[in-house]
Amino acid sequence: MNASTLTANKPVAIVGAGLVGAGWAIAFARAGLSVRIYDANAEIAAKAIPWAADQLAALHRHGLLDESPDTVIRRLSLAPTLDAALDGVAYVQESVLERVDVKRTLLESIDACADDTVIIGSSSSGIQASLFANDLRISPRVLIAHPVNPPYLVPVVEIVPSTQTSSETIAFTDRLMRGIGQSVVHVKKEIQGFVLNRLQAALLREAWALQRDGIASCEDIDKTVRDGLGWRWSFMGPFETIDLNAPGGVADYARRLGPLYHEIIASRDGDGPWDADWIASVEADRRQHLSADDLASRRDWRDEQLMAFAVQRRHATSK
Ligand SMILES: NC(=O)c1ccc[n+]([C@@H]2O[C@H](COP(=O)([O-])OP(=O)(O)OC[C@H]3O[C@@H](n4cnc5c(N)ncnc54)[C@H](O)[C@@H]3O)[C@@H](O)[C@H]2O)c1
Repeated sequence: MNASTLTANKPVAIVGAGLVGAGWAIAFARAGLSVRIYDANAEIAAKAIPWAADQLAALHRHGLLDESPDTVIRRLSLAPTLDAALDGVAYVQESVLERVDVKRTLLESIDACADDTVIIGSSSSGIQASLFANDLRISPRVLIAHPVNPPYLVPVVEIVPSTQTSSETIAFTDRLMRGIGQSVVHVKKEIQGFVLNRLQAALLREAWALQRDGIASCEDIDKTVRDGLGWRWSFMGPFETIDLNAPGGVADYARRLGPLYHEIIASRDGDGPWDADWIASVEADRRQHLSADDLASRRDWRDEQLMAFAVQRRHATSK
């Protein structure tokens, strides 16, 4: 079912138009939906549509847009207030700061003005919705819809209900996300960091520890993922990877290599937080390969790489 049918031709609202919110606006508009954009900071809000125009032009250049960028841009509008943004929308994508107090205050404001049908998905990277969305009129209609940045290029979205989210809200958000072309992961129980950032945390813990202990440089650790693990991970996950890496499949793999992994994992017990000296050492290591002045242009390069990759994935999955 297409996205406009799902929302009964009602618009969607983006609340918080920073990095992630502005990216979501593209994902919804590209799927044919009208999108209202609201940010508490008017200067940030004003940048969202020009920025989206640049990204849409790039998507078009890569053959990743079925319509003209102008057609898609016309679906985006700025809302001057939260009330105006929410008026008559089917869905709200909350994308404000990753802080319980900020998200709670916003949800209380939404509770005061949203109508009785609007569904609210939070982009939170790791805060459980029950910590900021419960015991309101809207609570059954709030859940986490956590994207990867930028959401119009990387398709996965984690749907995580709070303890008060209704099954109808989960089903609607699942259909909406699939309707705009996202790849939905259902996280069955709330846990800090959900699935994606817990997996990322496990890898980062080891990467930082290897750098701290002088085992390898940041560049060589990155290379191990970029030119090694990442090749398979771009089209299969860790379970399928190990299922294929022992003659007898995953159980055979677990028997052969389980003890090794167990000892590696146990050796990291008690690792503390990344302290100031440790962070400075990683920073110095990274800056040898990319100066701070070049971070923004390298982000543009990354997005171009993602677009080229998305083109290849489109061809691969259409075969
Ligand atoms: N950056 C990422 O890679 C990434 C990826 C996935 C999810 N997220 C999550 O998305 C959310 C937004 O992150 P971001 O990186 O876009 O942050 P950001 O700082 O770029 O944007 C947040 C925006 O929210 C606005 N804002 C704050 N309070 C508001 C309010 N009450 N009403 C309206 N606007 C308000 C701010 O002005 C700002 O423009 C966070 O929960 C974050 O964890 C981030």
